[in-house]
Amino acid sequence: MTLLYAIVCAADPARDVGRLVTLAQETGWTVQVVATPSALAFIDETELEHQTGRPVRSRHRHPSEPRPPRADAIIVAPATFNTINKFANGISDTYALGLLAEAPGLGIPVVMLPYVNAALASRRPFKDSLTRLREEGIHIHTPDADLDPYPWSLPLDILNGRPGR
Ligand SMILES: Cc1cc2nc3c(=O)[nH]c(=O)nc-3n(C[C@H](O)[C@H](O)[C@H](O)COP(=O)(O)O)c2cc1C
Repeated sequence: MTLLYAIVCAADPARDVGRLVTLAQETGWTVQVVATPSALAFIDETELEHQTGRPVRSRHRHPSEPRPPRADAIIVAPATFNTINKFANGISDTYALGLLAEAPGLGIPVVMLPYVNAALASRRPFKDSLTRLREEGIHIHTPDADLDPYPWSLPLDILNGRPGR
């Protein structure tokens, strides 16, 4: 089993994260959806659980619960300004950020597809975050064109070794 953690943050494309699940399953991945707490308002948890056969995870497990399996790869899409900046600065105050905090140290590949408007993208802290994350080996796709429709296949193509498609 190759296990993909699909981390979804609180921005509009989150409502369509089922498309990422479908595309990933079509290329052989088992998918675990992880939502930030704020992203729960954007997604259809029941539908995603039906699709993946796994509960959507948004909080740390209870200490008495078993440790979940380790991801083979992580996609963060849509990745918000908030989560990107926190990840870059080592902040780990959501379950999603806890997974991301450890990923580089564990050698787990991470592909991020930011979804931020031009005002946020122009901020110095955001640019610094992208630079620092890239220095740590995080693959961040920042398209020059606009993100409508949101390119769900892109992060998967990168993970599946087809970055040009
Ligand atoms: C309707 C709506 C749309 C939003 N769109 C975006 C967005 O496109 N990009 C972004 O970075 N934040 C967006 N936000 C703000 C984030 O949801 C907010 O910063 C939140 O704290 C992010 O939490 P998270 O990073 O833990 O998911 C939006 C918020 C709302 C309510």
